[in-house]
Amino acid sequence: MTVTIHDLRAWKGEGTRFAMLTAYDFPTARVLDEAGIPVLLVGDSLANNVLGYETTLPVTMEEMLHHTRAVTRGARNALVVGDMPFLSYQVSIEEGIRNAGRFLKEGGAHAVKLEGPQLELTSRLVDLGIPVMGHVGLTPQSVHGMGGYRVQGRGEEAARRIADQAHAITKAGAFSLVLEGVPAELAREITAALPIPTIGIGAGPHCDAQVLVLGDVLGLSERPPKLAKAYADLRGTIADAARTFAAEVQAGTFPDEDHTYH
Ligand code: KIV
Repeated sequence: MTVTIHDLRAWKGEGTRFAMLTAYDFPTARVLDEAGIPVLLVGDSLANNVLGYETTLPVTMEEMLHHTRAVTRGARNALVVGDMPFLSYQVSIEEGIRNAGRFLKEGGAHAVKLEGPQLELTSRLVDLGIPVMGHVGLTPQSVHGMGGYRVQGRGEEAARRIADQAHAITKAGAFSLVLEGVPAELAREITAALPIPTIGIGAGPHCDAQVLVLGDVLGLSERPPKLAKAYADLRGTIADAARTFAAEVQAGTFPDEDHTYH
């Protein structure tokens, strides 16, 4: 049975922590879904983790929808959230609604994620039946405005601003909130105060849920950030498999009898 936004709320009420992972394609979405990951985010980190861009800024609606369709074809149970790319929702409410709708209509996603306090758009989308995941703190689409990928919310005033945004986004109707790159103490305070689940990344251990970028978890990323933990070494595994294949081809031991038709 598909996980719904109501399950996430119930888990918050029960104190049940959960994991979210990014997914960008059919086979990994299928594996993560079968592994019981309840929420898959088709992150705009597609840009720098899969498509080779430096930041998340260049990724387009068409690229996001292409990968969202692959993930929704692979996920049978997980709630799939489509991450709205830079400039797909900031220009006007109308454009934001149309693009959010495309994630559900064309991508098959169950919800969308917006960076920053997009209060009017959040409330309009929720009224239209499009669930919204908020995202505050270090918002990568504002990398240039922040002067780099820096921890946000350090100091009284900056912390207050993020807490106020978290409350406003909740009031606008978001069903959950990503807290990225903020001090653990601030994430704890926000988590305790909100009725919706907080999903932390670089926000310490007190959030209701945690999210990581899949490439970091699998050990595929070239320069993983401090906040990430690798649970596998796929760079090593892939390189070993590729080298062994090439060596067997050179040695003439592949294909052997087991892999040959007659
Ligand atoms: O795009 C992404 O991967 C994200 C997560 C880091 C929350 O927004």
